[in-house]
Amino acid sequence: MTETTFYPLRKAMCQLACLLLSVACGGARAESLQVLHWWKSVSERKAVDLIAARLAAESDIGWHDSMIPSGSGAGAGIVLRSRMLANDAPEVAQVNGIVVRDWARLHLLLDLDAVAAAGKWDKQLLPTVAEAIKSDGHVYAAPIGIHRMNTLFYNRKLLARLHVAVPASWAQFEQAAAKLQQAGVVPLAQSSEPWQVTTLFEALVLIEGGDFHRDLFQRRHAAAYTDPRLATALQRLRSLKKWMGNPIAERSWDESMRELADGRAAFMVMGDWAKGELVSRGLNVDEDFGCTAVPGTERYHLYNIDTLSMLAAREPHRAAQEKLAALIMSPALQNDYNQIKGSIPVLRNPALAKMDSCARASWKLFASGAEAQVPSLVHRMATEEIVRDAIVAEVHRYFLDDNVSVADTQRRLGTIARTLIKSR
Ligand code: GAL
Repeated sequence: MTETTFYPLRKAMCQLACLLLSVACGGARAESLQVLHWWKSVSERKAVDLIAARLAAESDIGWHDSMIPSGSGAGAGIVLRSRMLANDAPEVAQVNGIVVRDWARLHLLLDLDAVAAAGKWDKQLLPTVAEAIKSDGHVYAAPIGIHRMNTLFYNRKLLARLHVAVPASWAQFEQAAAKLQQAGVVPLAQSSEPWQVTTLFEALVLIEGGDFHRDLFQRRHAAAYTDPRLATALQRLRSLKKWMGNPIAERSWDESMRELADGRAAFMVMGDWAKGELVSRGLNVDEDFGCTAVPGTERYHLYNIDTLSMLAAREPHRAAQEKLAALIMSPALQNDYNQIKGSIPVLRNPALAKMDSCARASWKLFASGAEAQVPSLVHRMATEEIVRDAIVAEVHRYFLDDNVSVADTQRRLGTIARTLIKSR
């Protein structure tokens, strides 16, 4: 065997050994980065492991994992803030959306301008993503993928067996749900966890129009809160409760997904990380399950961009932090990571042919431009975190207690929107 054929083989074997013994190998590396995030489910874990393995293989940098389980990240945010106050910041953290801008202004994040310039990120990135990672003209986050929230998942085999068509309207959904319930199947898998309830709610708001969603959550126009369309979305949320399990358990999103995967439930509204989870459990898109837009929201892409930011307090690790940022933006990682995660690459020219039908539809719609793109409230794309938290709590309260009226909820949401700061 010549040196040139032997070396790649040896390298591959080392990488494989390192993957199998990732803890031991991570410890042996000259440098490692501690990464705080909230990705816990099977597919999320696999996606994180892929980045860690590539970082080790390409730069010999270890990944010290700090996972704070908390669904859409509220708990992880609290832990991160406390650690920063205690002068114990990790080197890297999953900081998404508006929080990137707010933290950058407080000088908590490292600017990634040099990496972005070297990698020509401005030319590579979809324009909305390029904007989302900037604050006052500087880059403060490495974007990993874009999720679509207004996705309706369905168990394809179950629907076929019960002769139920995939609904294209809410009237059709009601008919399908009644038939499914009669057959002993839960029509709509749903958790009562606050962020999951509000994820469903913002998809229902989107039925009333992309601009109405933006007026409510991004622009926070007072008139939107007294608008009858908000009442319609709230009423629809309440009326869907009859199609959910009884009682509606507070459980993690991947547990609800399992109900759909096992054929105990037929539909679920969730961000497309759920697709990653179904695939990682051995199910196939277009065969075992399908995804389509929540009826009435076909024209819109309710989006959520995942990003990793580098903490400024860890300056001595700057070179390693920059290597991780560059790796995240490499086309190979973008394509492979997003396939596992269920999201789509943040790039203008991703490998479309390698994507499944859900991902291709998501990318094409997002890339079609600003009219289709609607920033998610729950996932911190639309407005300040404090406002997001207050709205989530209010919607949750309304969802749990049927005695809370629509009018009262509209009033309370309006007060939140009016009185809490706008830091733009
Ligand atoms: C979101 C995050 C997604 C997904 C989801 C559920 O906030 O952006 O990547 O992991 O939470 O954990």
